[in-house]
Amino acid sequence: MNHDRDAEASRLTIDYRNAMVAAVGPEHGVSDAMLDEIASVVAAQHARLGAEHAAGGQRWMDLPSDTALVSEVETFAAEARTQYRDFILVGIGGSSLGAIATVQALVHPFRNVLPPEARGGPRFFVLDNPDPEKVAATLEVVDLASTLVNVVTKSGQTAETMANFLAVRQALEVAVGPEKARQQIVATTDPTEGLLRALADQEGYRTFPVPPGVDGRMTVLSAVGMLPAAICGCDVGSLLAGARAMRAGTVTADIRENPAYLLAALCILADTRLDKSILVTMPYADALFGLSDWFRQLWAESLGKRLSRDNEVVFTGQTPIKALGAIDQHSQIQLYTEGPNDKLISLIAVDEYRAQVVIEGVPTGIPELEYLQDAELGQLLQREQLATAWALTQAQRPNFTIEVPTVDAAILGELFYLYELQTVMAGALLNINPFGQPGVEAGKNATYALMGREGYEPLREELLASTGPESVYKLSAG
Ligand code: PA5
Repeated sequence: MNHDRDAEASRLTIDYRNAMVAAVGPEHGVSDAMLDEIASVVAAQHARLGAEHAAGGQRWMDLPSDTALVSEVETFAAEARTQYRDFILVGIGGSSLGAIATVQALVHPFRNVLPPEARGGPRFFVLDNPDPEKVAATLEVVDLASTLVNVVTKSGQTAETMANFLAVRQALEVAVGPEKARQQIVATTDPTEGLLRALADQEGYRTFPVPPGVDGRMTVLSAVGMLPAAICGCDVGSLLAGARAMRAGTVTADIRENPAYLLAALCILADTRLDKSILVTMPYADALFGLSDWFRQLWAESLGKRLSRDNEVVFTGQTPIKALGAIDQHSQIQLYTEGPNDKLISLIAVDEYRAQVVIEGVPTGIPELEYLQDAELGQLLQREQLATAWALTQAQRPNFTIEVPTVDAAILGELFYLYELQTVMAGALLNINPFGQPGVEAGKNATYALMGREGYEPLREELLASTGPESVYKLSAG
């Protein structure tokens, strides 16, 4: 694997013509005047972010430059790929979505069922939801004697992750004994704090750090995302090089030169000035569907905030939706083109797919099918993307397209960094803090209380007293 690759120029482009007034009209489109107006706010926030970074904040920006991490991760992963038949990632939210997106984008879609020599490493399973049916099924199909477990939690205490992990750990201990089980566990968590850190130290697990000062949803470019990806054979060196390329391409404060700032400006103008309270991300590639899932969490948790930076109640946030082209043309597009005009739609177009399927042997005598003779499926998908952009624009639905040359590790790194910077700038434009997730913490604490965790007794009492009587508010048919 090549991890010495230097940051090259960014390879993605953004076509935002269809989000502008000229394409979709003044009621639904962003005007050049609006962009000019917001440009000075973006420039001021750019300066603030730069100053915060210089003072030791905004640490997520530095993750692509951690080449020492790449070596460490690749060394570990190279051994794991030869040693294990199965690999289970245990984590949730920011501790799993980035790894899932990376693996989905970069490995064979049916990698788990390939023969071992073609797979080149262990089969990959993710335990995020504490759904007993999925956990039991996973433990049923893996070969526990040859399974590596990577438990990932920044806080080191998330109920879903710790519960799933303790279930897997117990199964491992039964299968191979406590000593060997400990060697089959690698923990990715805070370097010094948290319950998982304490357990890892106590049991002697191999550990990787979750970078302090970086929110979970911004950690994909650290060991959190890169270790599972490398174990599945992804080229994490090129991925981080791609992120560095995007970082290098987004140092300017000029929204017409900086794709992340341009996207932030478009989204926030659409949300706050044009009533586009929904942002749809619709890649035309199955491989990028996980990316839109990862972005959905990033956008939702970062921007969905009650308080402004000045502590005023603001209730901000544009609702992110994930869609997949062309499948959702047969599911969601009817709503997008004829339902409420409350969406900004982001399409992702791929210039060159990694496989080609040419249609031959179209039966004669059916003239309506002849257009498919010698057609290529990727070409069909690309034309469907163009057709969707056109149809949306015709219906005055603002949309833009992120064009990527192909799906590879470097372009994925670019997209991760692009979306992170876009999100941080969007938070700045909304005058909210995009970091932290107090709304998530409330639910986490309530779960601890309901599960009887020590120290949460008063909250438990409060919760149990807060709902109305079951006899009045619980209904069954008949
Ligand atoms: O972005 C975040 O910080 C959250 O979404 C977390 O990733 C998620 O709640 C999981 O938390 P943890 O990594 O502490 O288990």
